[in-house]
Amino acid sequence: MAYSFKGGRMSTQFYLVILLVGLGVHTVAVGGAAIRQEMNLENGFTTLNHSMALLQRMESLLVQGNGSDVTLRVRTISTDEMKVIQAHSLVLTLQSDVFDEMLQNNNNSFLVLREPQDCAAVFDKFIRYLYCGDIAVRLDQAIPLHKLASKYHVWSLQQGLTRYMTQHLSSDSPAGHVVGWYQYAMQIGDVSLRDSCLQYLSWNLSSVLQSAEWSSISDELLMSLLQRSDLILYSELDLYEALENWIEQNQPESTMVENALRAIRYGMIPPQHLFRLQKQSPLMIKYYESIRDLLFLAFQFHSASPIQLAKYFDVNCSIFTPRNYLSSSWGAPWVINNPTRDDRSFSFQTQLGPSGHDSSKRVTWNALFSPRWLPLSVRSGYGEHGALQSTRTEHGRPRIIVTPATSSPDFAGVSFQKTVIVSARQQGKMVVRHVYNFHQSTEESGDFLVEADLQRRGSEYLIDNSLFLHVIVKPLYHSLIVSKK
Ligand SMILES: *[C@@H]1O[C@H](CO)[C@@H](O)[C@H](O)[C@H]1NC(C)=O
Ligand SMILES: *[C@@H]1O[C@H](CO)[C@@H](O)[C@H](O)[C@H]1NC(C)=O
Ligand SMILES: *[C@@H]1O[C@H](CO)[C@@H](O)[C@H](O)[C@H]1NC(C)=O
Ligand SMILES: *[C@@H]1O[C@H](CO)[C@@H](O)[C@H](O)[C@H]1NC(C)=O
Ligand SMILES: *[C@@H]1O[C@H](CO)[C@@H](O)[C@H](O)[C@H]1NC(C)=O
Repeated sequence: MAYSFKGGRMSTQFYLVILLVGLGVHTVAVGGAAIRQEMNLENGFTTLNHSMALLQRMESLLVQGNGSDVTLRVRTISTDEMKVIQAHSLVLTLQSDVFDEMLQNNNNSFLVLREPQDCAAVFDKFIRYLYCGDIAVRLDQAIPLHKLASKYHVWSLQQGLTRYMTQHLSSDSPAGHVVGWYQYAMQIGDVSLRDSCLQYLSWNLSSVLQSAEWSSISDELLMSLLQRSDLILYSELDLYEALENWIEQNQPESTMVENALRAIRYGMIPPQHLFRLQKQSPLMIKYYESIRDLLFLAFQFHSASPIQLAKYFDVNCSIFTPRNYLSSSWGAPWVINNPTRDDRSFSFQTQLGPSGHDSSKRVTWNALFSPRWLPLSVRSGYGEHGALQSTRTEHGRPRIIVTPATSSPDFAGVSFQKTVIVSARQQGKMVVRHVYNFHQSTEESGDFLVEADLQRRGSEYLIDNSLFLHVIVKPLYHSLIVSKK
């Protein structure tokens, strides 16, 4: 290496060239790493990297306790259990200003720490993270570790755990974990984790309703879910029945029951089922007076066309607003194999609307998927010449348009919202990855599949090289109010 000092500019470069030639293909192939190596050579340094061995030494320092200057006595609150860890104040102080302060105010050779049962159980793991900077986490350990990271101000671990939870909502756990994470996020005021949990529960509601987790949800979470229009589930009737179960298990006070029952969208339940519920559902029989007005409104809705109803009543309320129902009256699944190959089309039928008056009238919809479609504004910039063909395909974006096959006077004033649900595989399971809403074309939603990278075979959005969609058509009657005036 001494060469580079003596030889001056010319010979330094010469030396470098020889070295690079010597390194040959390897240097080119490893990309980013090659640049680092080149720079090192220019400075005359080569990195010898033994950081793994250092980590192992740090770990054995903790395990064997050599040179320990502080003993941690971890007491489990309200038991007489105690765990003893031989630690090093330098390491604790380096990672946590809370430990720093504790140690400064401490005259003893030990620190007594009081932790709840769940945190005490993972305390070793937590301390090991302070020594080694890595940690193996299980679903049920996320909350206690997050509590410790927050208490001792270990921010990198806290952020890492929040990210872990956001990414593991769909993981398998026998009793379910998302409801617990939601409650924890509420408790600590982590809005983004709370919203991720809420969105996961909403998008996965059909599974959640069947799971053991359902009966464990709190009043507050139940009400937040019932108010959402983006719930994905088979039908509103399913939601009513799940609510019945929840109430049976939880026996809440009657105001809570009334509020929950009033959040069911009775207009979305076909009249024949409403008849049955009125006579046979013990819950509805008991609370009939509290929801009588809503049932009456629902039967009025079912008895005539929404256009006639809108002349006299306010149709802009949630009872007439559909959620994302997977039942075949509302839409259809659409699996697109090898989606980047070419344009695909697909036809499906839905009911004209959920009212008893419309539900037997069918509408045929045509859907067209283009893997690389260019907005008009971009397209006109390229001109007509074939030379730009390749640029075109590179810049094009996936798009779906959904239009009725025929027009009908029944459509007057009704606006049909289309929802495309995109499923993907996460931890080996099908989960809803995205939900896009638009009226005619996904162009309106702007970001349709922008991050999907469908060209890549391993795209997270592809399952066995297919795109799994479910298209739902929802008639919205708000527009009738405007057309009335
Ligand atoms: C040293 O090696 C470890 C893994 O062996 C790697 O993660 C780390 O980035 C390396 N450090 C440097 C400076 O190259
Ligand atoms: C730690 O101490 C033990 C004996 O108490 C000794 O055998 C071991 O080599 C020490 N480890 C280190 C890393 O110094
Ligand atoms: C620590 O010891 C010093 C001197 O012996 C004393 O002044 C101080 O109050 C002690 N602090 C605590 C927290 O016990
Ligand atoms: C819902 O969650 C369950 C359990 O985690 C999973 O098996 C299922 O694939 C999920 N479904 C959707 C649609 O996200
Ligand atoms: C419908 O109600 C919502 C909120 O309740 C309101 O934001 C919206 O403007 C209303 N739409 C019409 C057309 O009245």
